Amino acid sequence: MTDHILIERRGAVQIIRMNRPDKKNALTRAMYAKMSAALAEGDADPGVRVHVFLGLPGAFSAGNDLADFLVVATGGEGGTEVWDFLMALARVEKPVVSGVDGIAVGIGTTLNLHCDLTFATPRTVFRTPFVDLGLVPEAGSSLLAPQILGRQGAFALLGLGEDFSAERAKAAGLIHEVVEESALESAVLTAAGEIAAKPRQALKIARDLMLGSRDELVARIKLESEHFRERLRSEEARAALTAFMTRKKAG
Ligand code: COA
Repeated sequence: MTDHILIERRGAVQIIRMNRPDKKNALTRAMYAKMSAALAEGDADPGVRVHVFLGLPGAFSAGNDLADFLVVATGGEGGTEVWDFLMALARVEKPVVSGVDGIAVGIGTTLNLHCDLTFATPRTVFRTPFVDLGLVPEAGSSLLAPQILGRQGAFALLGLGEDFSAERAKAAGLIHEVVEESALESAVLTAAGEIAAKPRQALKIARDLMLGSRDELVARIKLESEHFRERLRSEEARAALTAFMTRKKAG
């Protein structure tokens, strides 16, 4: 079976690469579990100094696998993998850099709110259609997006589900830099290498000071998750998820 998450070490940089091309990197429970484990292992390993998230050309991630959502929406078990991943992200000890090319939907967008530096390409589109799916913001985005984008920017992203191009995302403070597709990986790895070369303790303290306590973030993720679980079983969500999952069959 193809490995949908590839973990690679380059010196002190750990690369977590999403790799499910046939589904545009929609994330399954197994993929979340592997990413959580990588963050924990990288944090515990003194040889790792920075984590990097990458996707595929044209598809950073299409978000949570909607088939998995539909399982819960129709009364099935959702597991703890998503929750574990969100906790790992919220509490990750080492800097995180992401490189986004193309589609970045749902968690494909909100994951970047937890990154210290995000690079994106001109064709990147950030999108969080939570409300359109009958759902609510997740991954602490209801807290982080207003901090980063201001109230109106956050509402445009999370409430209206508007597309944020890379340019718009850069202007709004959501990402660090826009780079051409061909330069994305090298820009990300150069930045990660710079981070890895900094004095370790000073960088850790500086980052911890910038982030502050994670308790409020964790509490918000918990509150969002409670609403999210409830919303998944709503008629609004069931209808939207069923519509997506059956649209191809009709075509
Ligand atoms: N969950 C499960 N499967 C998904 C998926 C998701 N989140 N996103 C895409 N896929 C699947 C499609 O069903 C399709 O599978 P198929 O070829 O077996 O039919 C394949 O990935 C390619 O997607 P497709 O829609 O054909 O590509 P596209 O380039 O036209 O559109 C998206 C890409 C991401 C814009 C579109 O697929 C989409 O809107 N996906 C849902 C995104 C979403 O709502 N995520 C959850 C947010 S909370």
